[in-house]
Amino acid sequence: MKMEVFEMERMQSTWENVVEYDLSESGIRAVSLRELTDLGFDLEEALDTPLGYSQSNGTIELRELLMEQYPGASLENIEVTNGTSEANYLAALVALQGGDDMALEVPNFMQLWGPPRSFGARINTFSLDFASAWEPDWEGFERAVSEKTRLVYVSNPNNPTGAVLSRDAMSRIVERCERVGAYLLADEVYMGAEREQEQTPSFWGMSDRVIVTSGLSKAYGIPGLRIGWIVGPKEFVDECWSQHDYITIGPNKLSDIMAQTAVKPGNRKKLYDRTRRILQQNLRAMQEWLDGFGEFFTYNPHVAGAFYFVKYSSGIPSLELVQNILRRQSTLIVPGSHLGMEGFLRIWMGGDPEYLQEGWRRIGIEIEQLPELVQGRDL
Ligand SMILES: Cc1ncc(COP(=O)(O)O)c(C=O)c1O
Repeated sequence: MKMEVFEMERMQSTWENVVEYDLSESGIRAVSLRELTDLGFDLEEALDTPLGYSQSNGTIELRELLMEQYPGASLENIEVTNGTSEANYLAALVALQGGDDMALEVPNFMQLWGPPRSFGARINTFSLDFASAWEPDWEGFERAVSEKTRLVYVSNPNNPTGAVLSRDAMSRIVERCERVGAYLLADEVYMGAEREQEQTPSFWGMSDRVIVTSGLSKAYGIPGLRIGWIVGPKEFVDECWSQHDYITIGPNKLSDIMAQTAVKPGNRKKLYDRTRRILQQNLRAMQEWLDGFGEFFTYNPHVAGAFYFVKYSSGIPSLELVQNILRRQSTLIVPGSHLGMEGFLRIWMGGDPEYLQEGWRRIGIEIEQLPELVQGRDL
């Protein structure tokens, strides 16, 4: 099985812990173990916990807590995984076979570009349209989702645009999946990372073709525990568990226990509130910085996610621009080309203000040197 390189992930894995300023992040500034203990995680008790295998599809305690977020779900509808990425991977393995078609929303963080193609599935993309505030291009959607389509993937809120689908758009997507007999894989890991508007509704419960994936890494701000989950029809989730047995067996025992603290309803609200606060705190500074370049950056209003996905007006390929910033400024951001949309950059806004300011300043040094800006100054 030949696997294509996961471009964005590989660039991040190579550089994110090496550069002086990592602005390639997409989640909110990470929660510390101390903050988790302030939410009630019992560190003393954890010290006496034998580090054996945990329940491989997630402890009953954790799945019961997750059930509260997904009305109508029972324990068998939920499987706990190693991050949302493993949840997505398992769902694709189960839903697709060689020769099947899959429809993928772009731009996207592109995890499900490589694996389906490696086992012989064909990917048809449909776009979110920059000019219409990231509304799906419905003609493209109808074309991409056909009778041959077995899986449709969306991330809602979307990475990298931060856009949230309207309820009408959600219904339209679900209806089309039902009509052609495809599963909808709704990656909802950014749910709860809305800056102002109410929490994004879940696709869960709209149809028995819906599979939801999510995890602690983005809106909760706890990527390091590597806890995610799948919620779906029992038979589907059962097959995911079978795949899981072969791949990682199950999640880390301590992570499962800590996750129980994070997802308790009161704590979930506190963590989401923390995320909102950080986004609200950083928004104005981010916009001032972007707008300081005049017309160079254009963008849709921020809705969700700890990043801005901005269009820039220069002919330089996004990867080249990002590599210049990396090499000369020791600062990492994500090129649009790694997200399925050239001519854009994804820049983080979920960190400490001082850290972000210095990272943005360094990015600005490289932007100021682009011929389009130099010429503008000389006119
Ligand atoms: C939409 C989306 N889903 C899943 C993931 C992976 O999440 P996790 O760290 O929980 O595996 C990412 C990471 O960037 C993401 O953007």
